[in-house]
Amino acid sequence: MKTIAVIGLGNRGGVYCSYFKTDEKVKIVSVLDVSADALKEAREKYGVEEKNLFSDEEEFFKEKRADVALIATLDRLHYRQTMKALSLGYDVILEKPVSPSYEECKKIADAAKAAGKKVIVCHNLRYTPFYMTMKILLSEGAIGDVVSFEQAENVGFGHYMCSFVRGKWKSSEETSPIILQKCCHDLDIIYWMIGKKCVKLSSFGSLGFYRAEHAPENAAVKCVDCVYKDCPYNAKYFYLKSPESLCVPYGFDKSEENIVKYLSDDDNPYGKCVFKSDNDVSDRQTVNMLFEGGITATLLMHGFANATHRITKIYGTKGVMYGSLEKGVITVETYDGKKYEKDVNKSIKGVSHSGGDERLSRDVAEYLDGGRKAIGISFVEDSVYSHKLAFSAEESKLTGKEIYPGDNL
Ligand SMILES: NC(=O)c1ccc[n+]([C@@H]2O[C@H](COP(=O)([O-])OP(=O)(O)OC[C@H]3O[C@@H](n4cnc5c(N)ncnc54)[C@H](O)[C@@H]3O)[C@@H](O)[C@H]2O)c1
Repeated sequence: MKTIAVIGLGNRGGVYCSYFKTDEKVKIVSVLDVSADALKEAREKYGVEEKNLFSDEEEFFKEKRADVALIATLDRLHYRQTMKALSLGYDVILEKPVSPSYEECKKIADAAKAAGKKVIVCHNLRYTPFYMTMKILLSEGAIGDVVSFEQAENVGFGHYMCSFVRGKWKSSEETSPIILQKCCHDLDIIYWMIGKKCVKLSSFGSLGFYRAEHAPENAAVKCVDCVYKDCPYNAKYFYLKSPESLCVPYGFDKSEENIVKYLSDDDNPYGKCVFKSDNDVSDRQTVNMLFEGGITATLLMHGFANATHRITKIYGTKGVMYGSLEKGVITVETYDGKKYEKDVNKSIKGVSHSGGDERLSRDVAEYLDGGRKAIGISFVEDSVYSHKLAFSAEESKLTGKEIYPGDNL
């Protein structure tokens, strides 16, 4: 059994902890979080002893508190906290992105190697029955050799506006550009499935819609004050219909009255007009890639889907394989006229990320406890390479140039 110290018990930290709590291979023994609500949750939900709860980072890192550090703070803290954890001899489970700075990503990979420690990056899509089955089918030669790969990350407009217009990832400067933040998963899936390095890429994208010039006439800054009461983007209209989408602290009372009060607060970004927010990340972006062996791949991302869904289509020398992650059905058609489906829905456990979060938690716990290494497990070197594709895409988008990512980190 391995002990875990959690650094950042917010949304993501809480998801993993909810699975670790029922896994005998791991035990949550310590938590560092600056939020009193998070420490309350650690005490009440996970039974962490008072003496092992920390709000002060310096105090927490004075000594090693567990075998493994789960780092699930926001992006810009990952580098500092991972380097401290590695220097104390922790193995690390690290939320993506590794860091919004490519140089820092590389330094983390180097430090892990030098310390002889594992840094496992939370690429939860790899653990979904959908992508795991696709990976196995490919390795069995179900469609021959891969020729071309098509990945679409259709972000639901509700999710886009909550996270990327009003929410935690609205600013590239504060967190990271969306092509890294959201699509590092897609780029990782493309790289993992193809299994080769990217020779060159180009990317286009922009923030085209969620801008001041698209605000309707006389729209208010705060949606509770706005005359456009049933505008689909109106925060009050939207969150009263979908309170589960509202980002609130542990124990928040989601009654109608309390939600309206919360959205009325001048300092609350979730109550703001989507055309008057201080967001800057792209609401559409494409990446066009050439991999070794002449394999081509495209990634499409946009924030205008009715509901979030990913679609993957892989063309090979003997057939084609395709499906939607959320539907959980993979269709294989081969050029000898055969067609069959793999329905992975029965293998999906846990609701979040199409079963990826639960599988990741179980597989990582098993591996760190000395057990089997599941095929999805992604160490930092691999993740940093797929992150490199995201950094390259952002560079191409901004400069208009083709980028040559190369073989190395
Ligand atoms: N794998 C995925 O699919 C996925 C999905 C969403 C987010 N993420 C990533 O997960 C990470 C966390 O996102 P989240 O939505 O859980 O954020 P969050 O804001 O819900 O959680 C972050 C937690 O860190 C705490 N914190 C802030 N400063 C701290 C500090 N100095 N020391 C310790 N704790 C501190 C906050 O109080 C909060 O509890 C981000 O890097 C994000 O990119 C991954």
